[in-house]
Amino acid sequence: MSHSSRITASALVLSLLTACSANQATGRSPASRAASAASAAGAASAGDPYVPGDGNGGYDVQHYDLDLRITPRATPELTGTATITAVATGALARFDLDLTGLTVSKVTVGGTAAAFSRSGSELVITAPAPIARGGRFAVRVEYSGTPRVIDDPVLGRYGWIPTSDGVFTGDEPSGAHTWFPSNDHPEDKATFGFRVTVPHGLNAIANGRWTGTRTSGGSTTSTWREDTPMATYLAMVDVGRFKVRTGRTPGGVPVYAAVDPAVTTTTVDKLFETTARVTDTWAKLFGPYPFGLTGGVVDDVQVGFALETQTKPEYSGAMGADPTTIAHELSHQWFGDSVTVARWSDIWLNEGFATYAEWMWGERSGSGTSVQTQFDQRYRQADSPDLWSVAPAEPGRARLFGRSVYERGAMTLHALRQKVGDAKFFAILRTWTSEHRYGNATTPQFVALAERISGKDLGRFFQVWLYGKTRPTVW
Ligand code: ARG
Ligand code: ZN
Repeated sequence: MSHSSRITASALVLSLLTACSANQATGRSPASRAASAASAAGAASAGDPYVPGDGNGGYDVQHYDLDLRITPRATPELTGTATITAVATGALARFDLDLTGLTVSKVTVGGTAAAFSRSGSELVITAPAPIARGGRFAVRVEYSGTPRVIDDPVLGRYGWIPTSDGVFTGDEPSGAHTWFPSNDHPEDKATFGFRVTVPHGLNAIANGRWTGTRTSGGSTTSTWREDTPMATYLAMVDVGRFKVRTGRTPGGVPVYAAVDPAVTTTTVDKLFETTARVTDTWAKLFGPYPFGLTGGVVDDVQVGFALETQTKPEYSGAMGADPTTIAHELSHQWFGDSVTVARWSDIWLNEGFATYAEWMWGERSGSGTSVQTQFDQRYRQADSPDLWSVAPAEPGRARLFGRSVYERGAMTLHALRQKVGDAKFFAILRTWTSEHRYGNATTPQFVALAERISGKDLGRFFQVWLYGKTRPTVW
């Protein structure tokens, strides 16, 4: 880590101490403990090989407060202040946030100016005074610039995407830190507040509940809050013109539906009705809806995916927000958003479940074939290497959103259902969403839960379905 330019004298002392000693506080005597506290540096990554560099160590974010001024097509497009409240998980003298591009003008920690430097996608911050383990601190970052669209050779174009009338953000897996400084790994979930200022005539939609809009001096400022923990990749701000419809599902969940008037493939009424119907249906099957509201945003945007952004999935008007896609994205509110992966290799826990939800929606609504037919059609494709030679629970970064994760992941759930029966299968799903609600979970935890509820040894079953590189033949 280079700590060159913008470093104050006291920060220089701290960084020299850091350079001369080990990262972890191991000292026993008060003197050595003090020295270690002064030197402790948070890790520069979460250590997830699928997203090298993403995430950081040394602290646990509690809340992001994002105050953003977004002026589409202006230079810069974004001026922001991010105030991040965190708890130190060890003594901390220096720590990183993830941030790609953009210009940082000022950082404070606990209200005092802090030295910082940039190194690739790391914003390295030196605490003005060492933070004790367990200490709660607020870091405030003032920044501006035009975020770079990510054009990933395998994951496609995503992140901060300009639209005909504004900006769309779709960040899975690594886009969040192109527009706000963050501990950008799903393991560190936090609550969010958004205050977004846009030119008069445009609207700014973010996650959670709307708490107010004010227009003054040619600008409109909207505030939004998501009070349940959220992974950074699920954070969204969508700016543009929207037709909005709000209300409640028949089951009583508040709904916020918005559609860009330039979109011709759906209407705000269709989005509202389908969202309401699907939300209530999934609540019966998967357990109570986990968040304060449901909804969706359809934007006139050129992206190759829809995204389960928490409380309001985002859809591309070009691809369409058809009921199957809505069923998929809303199932993620339970599987992905409330129960979140702790590492990206477990992505089948999101996409396998959401694909299985699509199949169930098709069967229940009569719009598709039976779940069994969906399974059989794929099982018959005996020589599809993208299904059988890629392990859903270890797909590799290049196959993160590939067929094995989605379709073989869903087939695994169907095979499990056949093995344990409907009652136990749905009990497993509901226990999963209740035991890990708002948290993170892993594949071994799912396997353990399925064994506990079914009373069966499922080790070999999951081994062949989730980790095998050939088509399962007996299970
Ligand atoms: N989670 C999204 C979905 O289910 C896919 C996101 C794909 N991300 C990407 N960068 N291509 O449908
Ligand atoms: Zn999905």
